[in-house]
Amino acid sequence: MTEQEIYKGLAGVPVDYSAISKVNPETNSLLYRGYPVQELAAQKSFEEVALLLWGGELPSESELADLVAQERAGRALADNVRAVIDALPKSAHPMDVVRTAVSIIGANDPDAEDPSADAELAKAKALFAALPAIVAYDQRRRHGLELVEPRDDLDYSQNFLWMTFGEEAAPEVVDAFRVSMVLYAEHSFNASTFTARVITSTTADLYSAVVGAVGALKGALHGGANEAVMHTFDEIGEAANVEAWLDDALASKKKIMGFGHRVYKNGDSRVPTMHAALERLVEHYDRPDLLELAEALEKSFGERKGIKPNLDYPAGPAYHLMGFDTQTFTPIFAAARITGWTAHIMEQAAANSLIRPLAVYNGVDERHLDG
Ligand code: SDX
Repeated sequence: MTEQEIYKGLAGVPVDYSAISKVNPETNSLLYRGYPVQELAAQKSFEEVALLLWGGELPSESELADLVAQERAGRALADNVRAVIDALPKSAHPMDVVRTAVSIIGANDPDAEDPSADAELAKAKALFAALPAIVAYDQRRRHGLELVEPRDDLDYSQNFLWMTFGEEAAPEVVDAFRVSMVLYAEHSFNASTFTARVITSTTADLYSAVVGAVGALKGALHGGANEAVMHTFDEIGEAANVEAWLDDALASKKKIMGFGHRVYKNGDSRVPTMHAALERLVEHYDRPDLLELAEALEKSFGERKGIKPNLDYPAGPAYHLMGFDTQTFTPIFAAARITGWTAHIMEQAAANSLIRPLAVYNGVDERHLDG
């Protein structure tokens, strides 16, 4: 029997068309609906980028004003969402809290099963608006702190930080946060987005697809890496310990979190922009030691294995400096990626084709109960 070729992990396998973003490892570039992500991160709000991903064009002033009004109106935690979060142990993984909250929001939505384009976009906007309060409240409750109500006079990024910390963040911090949300928003057929597309391809509802995507993003090989990066830094302690730590890690065949990528093999196109944002935060908080550690590990691992950082590598320490708990990092990633996920859900729904690959059977030969 000829050996059937297997494409493990679908590595390098194009499985459909998508007009939402273009990840180009040859040129080390990432385009959102044709625009380089670096330009968007430098000049556009996360709200504008969300509308670009959903609709294909940057918004007019009135379109942006509509989203801003809808996002502000949808910020507050629904009573039963808050009640369910309060019913979960404080030790619950924050991504499990996000996954559960999305389920409640879906159950609350009378239009959850409405597949029309208008209804899908409304659901996307509802989750876009609701996730920050969920992420912020879960961090606060873990510290025994009360809910901070959203403020309509603050934009998306300012309000996310306000609800988390109960104080207005400095402009440098708000801008670094905004940059991270734009960079995390979308990345073509990554594991969590493809999960959402598979679920959508069966004609299941948007909320079900997002719950699945949250589950996929939690894993340390994917979104969970930004938390794992901070655990690595905590383990290493300071730049002087990098070589010894790396000796041990590589000897035990450990994956170094925040490094490598399935598609980018010469470095992640988003890293320079996030690294620059991290440098601005390091200056603002006067933490050169953290940057020294990050750069020492990047240099040494690069010299030894030639593997470069991905976006999670600078994003983790950036969120740490902003004051987020390490276990809150991936929920923040989810709050950004809800835009890309829902753009893909809408694109997949329009494609209307079931995703169902094959397996090559390598189990026992056929046999029968009566021998
Ligand atoms: C994200 O897909 C996306 O677009 C995802 C994402 C997005 O925006 O949605 O970009 C976000 O998930 C970024 C990736 C975050 N994950 C991590 O940082 C976890 C650590 N990274 C590795 O697990 C790994 O690099 C992957 C999973 C990201 C990619 O792995 P691949 O493409 O399957 O490559 P591989 O594991 O086959 O590695 C090839 C070789 C192997 O060595 P050999 O077995 O051939 O000797 O490189 C080695 C690997 O061991 N390698 C690493 C490594 N990454 C690859 N060795 C140590 N540490 C690493 N981080």
